[in-house]
Amino acid sequence: IPVEPFDLVIFGGTGDLARRKILPGLFRRFVAGQIEPEARIIGAARSELDDAGYRAFVGEAIADFGGNETRQKKKLKSFLDMLGYVTVDAKGDTGWEELAERVTDDRIRAFYFSVGPGLFGDLAKRLHKHGMADAQSRIVVEKPFGRDLESARDLNRGLAQHFDESQIYRIDHYLGKETVQNLMAVRFGNMLFEPLWNSQYVDHIQITVAETVGVGDRGGYYDKSGAMRDMVQNHMMQLLCLIAMEPPAKFDPDAVRDEKLKVIRALDPVEKDDLVRGQYEGDGTQPGYRNQVENRDSTTESFVALKLHISNWRWAGTPFYLRTGKRLRERASEIAVVFKDTPHSIFGPEAGNHRNILTIKLQPNEGIELGVTIKEPGPGGMRLVDVPLDMTFAEALGPEEADFPDAYERLIMDVIRGNQTLFMRGDEVEAAWAWTDPIIAGWQDRGDVPLAYTSGSSGPDDALMLMHRDGRRWREIKA
Ligand code: BG6
Repeated sequence: IPVEPFDLVIFGGTGDLARRKILPGLFRRFVAGQIEPEARIIGAARSELDDAGYRAFVGEAIADFGGNETRQKKKLKSFLDMLGYVTVDAKGDTGWEELAERVTDDRIRAFYFSVGPGLFGDLAKRLHKHGMADAQSRIVVEKPFGRDLESARDLNRGLAQHFDESQIYRIDHYLGKETVQNLMAVRFGNMLFEPLWNSQYVDHIQITVAETVGVGDRGGYYDKSGAMRDMVQNHMMQLLCLIAMEPPAKFDPDAVRDEKLKVIRALDPVEKDDLVRGQYEGDGTQPGYRNQVENRDSTTESFVALKLHISNWRWAGTPFYLRTGKRLRERASEIAVVFKDTPHSIFGPEAGNHRNILTIKLQPNEGIELGVTIKEPGPGGMRLVDVPLDMTFAEALGPEEADFPDAYERLIMDVIRGNQTLFMRGDEVEAAWAWTDPIIAGWQDRGDVPLAYTSGSSGPDDALMLMHRDGRRWREIKA
């Protein structure tokens, strides 16, 4: 179903995110018929460009990142016709009058702040000053949303001066991933799981977000952040919230976000022994972390593993283990809910320990797998084996249906539709920082140095120990 015609202004319209994700994503939604030709997309940045120059830039971005849709030449031409460009200065008055003239008064107007957080406040102020902050307007802000609680509060205050919370869309692109939303469908659309979804039946939950890429050319940003700020405070925290939250009364933005917030607020502080930090070393072919960020003494982590507890009625006694890192063995992200042993084994000790594990695979092969225990086929007596009931979406639904829009595509369409469910509310972000800050401060105060791990491994051995010492183990990192 097409969304109503809108005006979208992308600040940072010539930047990397716009080029790789936002513009190709908009094009794919256009090809899919979800965006109508009456919509208008305006790039805004400091570079001196005109409409034609911007169209050429976007044409190239789509050729590079547009996927299969790039072949649709006619569509591409009509899409490019919808584009315009205005040179604006976030910190000065240049361009703002022109921008105000270009956007339409009676339409949904979305302003995408695809710029560093240092400019959020300035952009909000100038939008307001030039009459573009009325009820028709929405702003979309990218991560990083601050680097600690204080800076996040400042950002929230800066935006709140000119926009109501209902107009602010804070992006966490993990919430736009297909399986992440499926997590809610599986939990709350089935009778099967929810009764077992608590510490009485769940032994532990593990969340892994493993990447094979290193920091690439983002060293400047990354070395000041590290995995804790870059991945745990936002993406991992969102996954944790969705897996652990109470059922919201309805699938409505504030009902969902209220429940997520309660999870973050119920998190215990993390003990030092429950935290492992790592930093990757080179492997002969690829440079190590310190070389890549050009900081020989860097003590920033490119890997974190931690154990955490949610102090509430549902989860008291069930630990959550989280790990994420760069340059790991494979790109594989999943959430595994590991159920407890049956209370009594009627098959005797030789049948071994078998457990149900529900695995939600986020990427690369999206799907859900439920490990069940059955009898090993054949005449060998009552021997038990674990087999997966596998629902890889591409197989279950057919490749057409499983050709999901990218997270950004979905989220931008939600902005236009005015649905904030998959966006972070200000208080949620602050609560996540309030939990993260003491962890980072602890590392700083103790002068903690991350443990080296080999590129292509599964992280430092201490991360394995984090579970071994509890008599548990991580699932293998595999796609
Ligand atoms: C970004 C981080 O938010 O998420 C990156 O800044 C990380 O460091 C990326 O690589 C991972 O996203 P995805 O969608 O590739 O899992």
